[in-house]
Amino acid sequence: MSSIELQRLSDQFIELEEAYNAHNYHPLPVVLTRGAGVYVWDVEGKKYYDFLAAYSAVNQGHCHPRITAVLIDQVQRLTLTSRAFYNDQLGAYAAFITNYFGYDKVLPMNTGVEAVETALKLCRRWAYNVKGIANNQAKIIVCEGNFHGRTTGVISFSNDPSSYEGFGPYMPNYVQIPYNDLSALNNALQDPTVAGFLVEPIQGEAGVIVPTEGYLKQAAAMCKEANVLFIADEVQTGLARTGKLLCCDHEDVHPDILILGKALSGGTLPVSAVLADDSIMLQIKAGEHGSTYGGNPLACVVAMEALKVIKEENLAENSLLLGEQFRKALRELNLPLIKEVRGKGLFNAIELAAPDDHTGWDICIKMMQNGLLAKPTHGNKIRFAPPLCITSDQLMECVQIIKNSIIEFSSGN
Ligand SMILES: Cc1ncc(COP(=O)(O)O)c(C=O)c1O
Repeated sequence: MSSIELQRLSDQFIELEEAYNAHNYHPLPVVLTRGAGVYVWDVEGKKYYDFLAAYSAVNQGHCHPRITAVLIDQVQRLTLTSRAFYNDQLGAYAAFITNYFGYDKVLPMNTGVEAVETALKLCRRWAYNVKGIANNQAKIIVCEGNFHGRTTGVISFSNDPSSYEGFGPYMPNYVQIPYNDLSALNNALQDPTVAGFLVEPIQGEAGVIVPTEGYLKQAAAMCKEANVLFIADEVQTGLARTGKLLCCDHEDVHPDILILGKALSGGTLPVSAVLADDSIMLQIKAGEHGSTYGGNPLACVVAMEALKVIKEENLAENSLLLGEQFRKALRELNLPLIKEVRGKGLFNAIELAAPDDHTGWDICIKMMQNGLLAKPTHGNKIRFAPPLCITSDQLMECVQIIKNSIIEFSSGN
């Protein structure tokens, strides 16, 4: 086939999707058909480094052979019972994941935002049953710039107009404070009707905003002092992404409620989880919360294997080490267009010294043409989050691709 015919193949997929699928995303114009480890291939056979890893859902690498093997085995045996009946995998999974993270109980859900909603419900229940806040009065503190998902409840406390505008009315009783601001937190904690503080240990969608060292530790201590639950949304930062199993581990913080998702299935199906001790978790009783697919046997075996892979393949250690190398190499490029390089482990972003919103997109198109896929976030920031199985040599090759792409963009080639 000629290259013109090949180009048409991608266009056909794109046109089909645009014609019949809702326009709620703005993808890069690349049509992927296969993935393995750090690589993905488009329908024309071109190979790319995946530097988004499905927003950190594919930390273990695409189509990890161990995870896909248990998935295939279980999918042929039993996939879904609902929680109307017991299944023979949920108990083993619950024991495994609670032991893995050091909590009494887990509540299994599917998507990340469902787990966030679950955590908020748990927090309110705890507020009324344990803390003694008057019914319907509980407040939850959140941070400006947050991203916790897309439900009407969760967008009620977003301050990003593209998330909330035109979707009102909004749910009350969320208190927004600036991120990384302990004195604002201290002020907000003075209100006795505050039940919880929901926080991303690093703000991902906002552009990989890393708080000052000690912020999480002090915030957790202040919450404890005020009898307020410290709720960590580790949907994106957790599971080795930032160079520790959890991002909170960098500061030895054990959240009262821990929210996980994305890489809990290694990118194979939606699996999320909320972890807490009995004093919180047992406030929700039978019939009061749930999900048809939550805790299904397929998810259980996949999540166990995904967690084992993270430890047995030393993904957190690799992420920590290579993250340092990556930031150092990017900074040493000394490119005027790179205003800042920031991140932790292999969760990184560059902020561009460009006043407009198009530069990030245009550079991502250049990188795509040069064999690396990344996506801009909030206009002039580009997030770099490859699968954590990437090697040092591969990473340095990627730094060259990034460098060449930015230079080509700057020179108008
Ligand atoms: C921190 C955080 N929380 C929650 C979510 C929502 O997860 P999901 O898209 O699986 O609902 C995301 C998604 O990007 C996230 O980054």
